[in-house]
Order: sequence, then C-alpha cells, then structure tokens
Amino acid sequence: MSLSYDYKMDKPVGETRLDRNGQNIIGRALPRFEGPLKVSGTAKYAYEQIVGRNVAYGHLVTAPIGSGKIKRIDPLRALSTKGVLHVVVDDKAARASADPSDSKPAAIKGEVNYHGQPVCMVVAESFEIARDAARLVDIEYEETEGRYDLFAVADEAYDPGEQQMPSTVKKGDVDKAFEAAEVQFEATYTTPSQNSSAMEPHASIASWNGDELTLYGSYQLVSTNVGQLAAALGISQSKVRIVSPYVGGGFGSKLGIAPESVFAALGAKAVDRPVKVALTRQQVYQTTVRRTDTIQRIRIGCTKEGRITAIAHNTICGNLAENPVFEPAGISTVFLYAGENREVTHRKADVNVLLAASMRAPGEAVGMLALENAVDEMAEKLGLDPIEFRKLNEPTEDPQDGLPFSSRKLLECFDEGAKRFDWASRPKTPMSRREGEWYIGVGMAAASRKNMLQPSSARVTLSPDGTALVETDMTDIGTGTYTILQQIAAEMLGLPREKVEVKLGDSALPQGAGSGGSWGANSSGSSVFAACEGIVAEIAKRLDVEPDDMTLKDGTVIAGNRQRLVSEVVGRAPIVVTGNFKPGKQYQTTHQASYGAHFCEVAVNSVTGETRVRRLLSVVAAGRILNEKTATSQCYGGQIFGIGGALTEELIIDPRTGLMVNHDLAEYHVPVNADVPQLDVVLLPERDHAASPLASKGIGELALSGVGAAVTNAIYNATGVRVRDYPMTLDKVLAGWAKQR
Ligand code: MOS
Repeated sequence: MSLSYDYKMDKPVGETRLDRNGQNIIGRALPRFEGPLKVSGTAKYAYEQIVGRNVAYGHLVTAPIGSGKIKRIDPLRALSTKGVLHVVVDDKAARASADPSDSKPAAIKGEVNYHGQPVCMVVAESFEIARDAARLVDIEYEETEGRYDLFAVADEAYDPGEQQMPSTVKKGDVDKAFEAAEVQFEATYTTPSQNSSAMEPHASIASWNGDELTLYGSYQLVSTNVGQLAAALGISQSKVRIVSPYVGGGFGSKLGIAPESVFAALGAKAVDRPVKVALTRQQVYQTTVRRTDTIQRIRIGCTKEGRITAIAHNTICGNLAENPVFEPAGISTVFLYAGENREVTHRKADVNVLLAASMRAPGEAVGMLALENAVDEMAEKLGLDPIEFRKLNEPTEDPQDGLPFSSRKLLECFDEGAKRFDWASRPKTPMSRREGEWYIGVGMAAASRKNMLQPSSARVTLSPDGTALVETDMTDIGTGTYTILQQIAAEMLGLPREKVEVKLGDSALPQGAGSGGSWGANSSGSSVFAACEGIVAEIAKRLDVEPDDMTLKDGTVIAGNRQRLVSEVVGRAPIVVTGNFKPGKQYQTTHQASYGAHFCEVAVNSVTGETRVRRLLSVVAAGRILNEKTATSQCYGGQIFGIGGALTEELIIDPRTGLMVNHDLAEYHVPVNADVPQLDVVLLPERDHAASPLASKGIGELALSGVGAAVTNAIYNATGVRVRDYPMTLDKVLAGWAKQR
C-alpha cells in the first residue's frame, strides 16, 4: 500500500506527537549512528564508490592565466603517452566551470575568465599517468588584462538585481535621518575572499549504462545537482542519477556541481569505462567556488539616549561578469535592530576571480562582522554597554515590513550569556586588564540567521516486522541528518531507534530539501514528520480510533485500554507513505530567524600583537533542538569558523596575474586545535510554532553569524585598536598601536 501525505505550513503547528515524546528519542544527545562507519573507513565517499581495473582516472588541466582566450589545445603529446586513454576537450565541459551553482550554466566559448579555470581533462589508466600527462597538453593562450582586485574596480559596482534577496531594501529617508541624528557613526569595513576548505576534496566517479549516467559525487543538493549536470551535458534529467551518501564537509562549496563531475561524465562516455576524478587541494581552492571579498559601509544615527533613527548598510562584492550572484551581506541589518529609517544595498563589481558563491552563512558570516563591530563602536560612542545599546533597539516586529517575528529570543540569549560569561565584571575600558605581557579583553556580538525552508519529500515504509525505513535524497554533509531523521521517525512511530533505517543521498529516492542554508534538518525532518503522520493516520483508521487518542511506544500502539504490536497492525504488506512538506503561509506572514549571542575573551600579546582566543560562549535559540549533540557540534563548528574569519582566513589573489596565491591548507589558515579554546554552547529551549511542524529553525549557520565580531570587539577591548579590515592579523594590531603613540 503506497500513500502520500501532504503538509503545508499554513497554520501554526500546536502540540504534536513530538511534544508527547512517548519514545523519548527526539532532542536527545545521541551520537551519529553512521559515525563508526566513518572512523573505521568503511563509509564510502564519492571517490571510493567504484574500484577495480576497469576504472580510469581523470586529471583536470586548468588555465595558468587569469583572463584571455584559448587559441589552441593540442592533446597529441599527452595522447601519445603510454596509459593515456583520452583528453576531454569539449565546450560542454567548459560550461561546468562557468557557474556550478546555476542550473543554466553559460557557455564559455574558449575564454579564460579566471586563473584556475578548467580547460580540459586527461583520462588515463592511473591517476599518476593522468596527472603527468596533464603537463603535456599543449595549450596556447592569449592573455588579456584582467580585473583581479575588487578594491580597484569597486567604483564600477552596479546593481545586480534581485537574487537570494532584493539588492536594495529601504524604508524612510536614511540619508536625511543620518544627517539629522544627534550621534552619528560611520565606518567602512572590509572582509577578504574565503574558501570553504572542506576536508574531502570535490570528487566524482561517472559511470554510463547506455545513455544513462550514474554519478557518484560529493554534493549537498543532489536533486538540484541532477538538473545542473543534465543541463551541462545537454541530456534529460531522467537519464542522470547522482549518488552522494557521505560528504566530507561542504560549507556551501558543494551546493552546485563542480567541474570535475561534467568532465568525468564526458570522459567516461569517451572511454566507455567508469572515470574517477578528484580535485587536488589546489584545484579545490582555485577551481570550485569562493566567498567574495566585501566592502561594507555602515552608518548608524542615534538619539543621544541611544535610540537608532537611521541605519544603513551599503555593501559591494565581486563576481564573474556573467554571474549576478551577490553576497547578501546586509541580510541581518534588514531586521536585527529597530530604526525608522533604513537602507541595505548590495552592489556587485565584475572581477576575473573564481566564481563567488555561497559559503557557510552567506550574508551573515561577513555582514555581521561589519554590523556587529559597528554596533559595538556606536555603543562606545554613546557611552552605553553594548548589550544595553542593543536592548534599547530591540524591535517588537520586523522593522522593515512590520511582520511579527515567529519567535525571537535575542534578549534572552544576551541575558543568559551575560550571566554565564560574567559580563558585568568585564574591563570597561581598553587596555585596562593585563596579565604579564598579555592584554586581556572581552567582547560580544549578536547572532541572527534568516530561517529558510524548502519543499522536501521523504518516503517512510513501516514493515510487517516492525521496522521502518526512511528514504529521501536529502544529504548528510557531516551535520547529523541520518541520525535526526531516524530520531524523528522513531519518535513519531514509537519505535526503538535501532528499528529505523535511513537511506539518503541518492537522487533515485524522493526529492528532499538537500543541505544548504541551514534549512536541511527542519525541511527534510518535516517531510519525515509528514510521512509518519500519514502512517499514524493509517494505523488509526485500521484500529478505528482517532490518531490523537493513540500512543505509539516501544513497537506497540496503545489506544484506550488496548495495546497491540505495531507489526500486527501492519499485517502482511508494508505501509508506505511519501510525506511532502511545503513551506506555506506561515513563512510569508511571519518573520522567521534564529538568534543568539556570542561572548569572547581574548589575550593579545603586548609585544607581538598576537591574539589568542581564551573563552568563547555562544547562547543560541533556534526552535526545537532535534538532537542536542549534533546541534551543539554544529555550533562548535560555527564558533571555530568564526575564529578563522576574525583572525586568519584570507584568500590572497595576486592583483597582477589573478593567481590565487595561498591555495592550500598550509597557506590558507583555518583554525587548528591550538587556536581554539574550550568552547561553550548553550541551546535555549524554544519552540517556533510557525516555522515547521517540528517547531524547529535552522541552526548550522547561526553559530557562525556574529562570532568574528565578538572576537574583534574583544580585541578592541584588550588593545584599544579597532581594525576594520578583516582578518585581524597581528600586523594590524601593531600598526594600530604605532598610530596611537
Ligand atoms: Mo550553506 S553556504 O547554504 O551550504
């Protein structure tokens, strides 16, 4: 029996089976059940899915110039190397490099638009042969002058039009109100280009069966990726299957197809064998996607009591000419603080630098570095405690469009954090606390992250043996999706956890939300919820009771004074329900975001200017927590990401050649253990009844949003140096001190 159950979020959800919590599984701090497979090396990642003699290997050849034309590609020398099978030279492949996040990639037509752009691929009997022969492909380029430096072309930034959000959001007259304000603060902040730096490099194996392609890849959004890959190859989506059961981190870099997948597909077709391609670490940096650098001007006008009358956030980012996508850096400024007159703008300048796309907390991650630093600066100017200043400007509704907040525990996050961190005893003035040669300072920042929901489907099968199977093409990119979907189904169906199996990451399964924008758990979890509601309804029908009068627990159904085994009720044929979840009216009629507060203590060396983060506390409220352990781990990840954003991460593009100079983990500095102190995370209990049937909101990116500003505000408190040019490396602190003297 196969049924479907649709759930559209048109009404607030009220109490559900999850609240009755009969099985006591939802929310618990359970470890990821696939963890042992991963640590024992038995979970198969993309590159490991097919092994054996029949597999051929591809190696990408990438452009060594930043801008120009490809005059000639001569593969002859490469092809005459022993073991080389083929060289993929095809403009279909070039399309893949144009815009992996776009489902309609633009053709490149022999142009080189950035350094590291894939040009062709050698296919050989082994990886080593392919890599070696890649040097032998004779390519003639005509180099033209490129635009490699965002700061040099920022004057030419233009309105890219609405993308993920409107490029301009305005209310009142911000210029006039700012001019008239009793206290004004204005500053420009810059953030550098960054790379997601996932542990697992992008990798694909393509395998054809006639005209049907199976691609084992490392992707976040397999159903979207199927469309992208089919479009790049010019074939029907129905002929493409993408399998991506385990992903070694994505952070946005695997939202869209990367070039290796298209090349692998073309190579496999040509040699009629499976072809596997892994990007080298350098290629991951130079050839996939990056986060754009940004220039962000912030103006805040206040009454002398500290009420905001004008707030403006004008941002500029860079991207390839053919790609209009901008970094929505002002996204939080739209709704975080009150103020009658407001303006958020996003402008984009064309650059010849690797495609800029979404990287963890696109918008907030870098936008809040500027905003939350500026708010700290303004509080100081007003002589107010930064928390007091924020509280004075807490809006009662969305200050831009007047929508009610679905739930907003920002002030509770401040209070809880202040108490736990002992904020009251903080050094009130810069350079006032010293331990030996270290200055000690503390800082804080608000966190917010827009809640996003996506349509999502999942199929749940309840079998006669009393086990359940959850299936969706949703991915688990290390976030805990397998486990939370298991928890939801187990709770809903009253089954022990071990009785629920979860299959993910295969486009042959019902279309899930995919992992991105922190919508994954809430959206895909809601589809599992819906499917289970359908099963519960069917069981109730068979027992002739109301679903609400039934408790499902430990593999039994309890209704009134009757208790029966679920397996008995199921009978001989499994009950199969596909749950289809859709965001509905609640998403339009309420403003949905998750909130938090970060508190940081740093020590800055008075001789070298080196910053050590000593304490970091994040208090977050993101609706129902589905699994305390995986949610907390997401927050740890965000905190660490935030330390990197504040102190070390910076992609350096050579302004003369467009070469990405620090294109590996040795030179692009993400925080390592020694950079990370004991991390504290507090998850405030919350339910958001407008957000989803789970009453959850996104959490993954929340804990990154604002962290870096808490760090740099602490650096200011320690040193008296405000650096507005991220990352806050020690040379900038030293230069700041030199200026003070
Ligand atoms: Mo996230 S940057 O939307 O994977």
